[in-house]
Amino acid sequence: MNTHLFEAAKAAMAHAHAPYSSFTVGAAILAEDGRIYAGCNVENASFPEGWCAETSALGAMVTAGARRVLEIAVISDGERLTTPCGGCRQRLAEFAAPETPVHVCGPQGLRQTFRLGDLLPAAFDKDHLA
Ligand code: THU
Repeated sequence: MNTHLFEAAKAAMAHAHAPYSSFTVGAAILAEDGRIYAGCNVENASFPEGWCAETSALGAMVTAGARRVLEIAVISDGERLTTPCGGCRQRLAEFAAPETPVHVCGPQGLRQTFRLGDLLPAAFDKDHLA
């Protein structure tokens, strides 16, 4: 995994707004345009209204005009691997391929790399709407 991707995810985690769970998460996407887009989780006093770090990073990428995710890194300091939640797997699948690497990191660096297709098999996608 690219060091810049890890550092961007780590820097984003430092800005997480997670006063309710105290579970801070950062994410960084390497997009097709060669740029890195980062995001953090943003919680809300009305709990279901919060969103994940991966979703923030995707929003930054799409807002900048990029549309393809080449790699994504997710970081937390949780004891267990912080793999993307179900909703974020679906949102990532919109802009990534089954082969796209999802790097799950801790504060010291990479812990495990997954293929998106292994995290979201038999995904529902645009071809289902054709
Ligand atoms: N969270 C993320 O930001 N990304 C993940 O991959 C898993 C969970 C956030 C959502 C919520 O703010 C906190 O972690 C606890 O669930």
